[in-house]
Amino acid sequence: MSLQNQKSQTLLDVRGLRKIFGETVVLRGLDFTVAKGERIALMGPSGSGKSTVLNCLGGIEKPDQGEILLSGNNLATLSADELAGLRRRTIGTVFQFFHLLPTLTVKENIGFPMELAGWSQEKIRERVGELLEEVQIGHRAGAYPETLSGGEQQRVAVARALAVGPPLLLADEPTGNLDRKTGDAVLNLMEQLSEKHAVAMVMVTHDERSTRICHRILRLEDGVLAGPPEEERKEEETAG
Ligand SMILES: Nc1ncnc2c1ncn2[C@@H]1O[C@H](COP(=O)(O)OP(=O)(O)O)[C@@H](O)[C@H]1O
Ligand SMILES: [Mg+2]
Repeated sequence: MSLQNQKSQTLLDVRGLRKIFGETVVLRGLDFTVAKGERIALMGPSGSGKSTVLNCLGGIEKPDQGEILLSGNNLATLSADELAGLRRRTIGTVFQFFHLLPTLTVKENIGFPMELAGWSQEKIRERVGELLEEVQIGHRAGAYPETLSGGEQQRVAVARALAVGPPLLLADEPTGNLDRKTGDAVLNLMEQLSEKHAVAMVMVTHDERSTRICHRILRLEDGVLAGPPEEERKEEETAG
């Protein structure tokens, strides 16, 4: 599907997102949408609230004001169980420091979300096999995370994030702990899998170069998104 066709379908709709920690207003009212299959980079200075945005999108932090609609579900109206279920089905997450479970092997880490989702052992085996191939880590399937390089660990983390086929990947500085060459390979993998499976992505990054895999960049500064508001941007795109 071309991105243009996907644009007609909104996956994530954020309206007036406001978040306060104590006395500090971190997010002052953010408005943006993410279309199905769209990859967005979220940039901004350290401490500007990028991780807070991801945590709100993932339902881990509750906004003080504003609405987040994910696949048409208003997160604020869901019970804790409903939110956990929606998150499990809809969102995969990749972190800077990989966060693999140290007591599980590579293939067990990748299969873990499928276990949580209650898949049969046969289905899990099959899907893990596919993913091991997709992220090219089959030769380390039985290894424990501590024996892997950073790049290998992040490839496993990407496979785990996409395990149950979520439509949205949240990535917080996914290459922040990798050297340039390894980071590039991980970015290429994320782009390739996002294209293949129409997975939308919101990727926090410090690195302007990493944005090459994204369709557009949101810049967070002083609690607001810089640049023209979403509606104007859409009109510009339509005109151009
Ligand atoms: N759970 C929390 N409790 C209190 N303050 C927090 C919490 N999470 C983040 N903050 C504060 O919110 C601001 C934005 O943090 P963060 O979203 O981590 O920024 P970034 O990811 O852009 O570096 C920082 O000032 C941080 O100290
Ligand atoms: Mg952060």
